[in-house]
Amino acid sequence: MSVLLDIATAAALLREGKLCAFPTETVYGLGADATNADAVLSIYDTKGRPRFNPLIIHVADLAMANTLAEFSPLAERLARFWPGPLTLVLPAKPGNGLADIATAGLDSVAIRIPAHPLALELIRAAGRPLAAPSANPSGRLSPTTADQVRNGFAGRVPVLDGGPCTAGVESTIVRIDGDRLVQLRAGALARSDIEAAIGKAIEVAPKDAPIAAPGMLVSHYAPRAIVRLNAVPQPGEAFLAFGPAPRFAGPTRNLSPAADLYEAARNLFSMLHDLDASGAATIAVAPIPFDGLGEAINDRLERASAPRP
Ligand code: TXA
Ligand code: MG
Repeated sequence: MSVLLDIATAAALLREGKLCAFPTETVYGLGADATNADAVLSIYDTKGRPRFNPLIIHVADLAMANTLAEFSPLAERLARFWPGPLTLVLPAKPGNGLADIATAGLDSVAIRIPAHPLALELIRAAGRPLAAPSANPSGRLSPTTADQVRNGFAGRVPVLDGGPCTAGVESTIVRIDGDRLVQLRAGALARSDIEAAIGKAIEVAPKDAPIAAPGMLVSHYAPRAIVRLNAVPQPGEAFLAFGPAPRFAGPTRNLSPAADLYEAARNLFSMLHDLDASGAATIAVAPIPFDGLGEAINDRLERASAPRP
């Protein structure tokens, strides 16, 4: 039996220093009061996450964002994508009240305003910024439905149910370094779309950069099954297809029969979850183009297929 949460109850839990998972447009987040060190610590414990990994701080509006970080004119231009799947890494404002453990003691802070009405209502009702990594045990697939969150934590984490996430992969993370923009993690907002909107190139951080960002850990976003990329499925495997696909008798999901990368991003984690649940030892994945959102999709798939620690 799952408990149905309403916003007021969820906000009360957060204010008491408890955890609550909530929907965003990208993936479900495991939220805690970002100003409460003990609450944030329990995120790390619940996820089994390495302590050195700083968290994204979710706010409801620019006024709240301005209390946490310094916004340069360039940062303000990028903030026009909010609410939306873009996280900005900015210089932290001294005395911003965030728990050190939420930002791993860095003098920068990663912030976003999520584009999901329940997330915004929850942050407003809690009345404080929420630290929220994806609501999955560390190293596992990110959840895009409330059920996946419940299953991932065996029902131990309360979840505000907002239906399936529309974007399906995590936010794009961009660090603003004076006049330079550096993408730390490819995500649900295509780098090319940001560049086109602001008329400025974005550098790409090397994948193994220290404190880069996302699954900075090379093996991340991993299903239980082994993942084989750019593959033609063999008997006994499960198959994650994209676009017009060969007929295959085993468990099969198609990220997007019409080869639409937005649809593919939305389906990515859910379909990996499904194929993992089929019990196949290996998931063969069709080639996915690298343009637009293909950058984020290929990044997550490469991490899912990396050798496990
Ligand atoms: O879509 C998303 O971004 C989801 C939803 C729930 O909003 N959240 C998410 O958070 O993916 P998380 O904690 O899994 O990813 C945070 C990433 C980490 O890899 C971390 O390294 C990076 O953001 N990060 C956080 N603060 C940073 C900072 N000050 N400098 C560089 N990277 C930072
Ligand atoms: Mg995550």
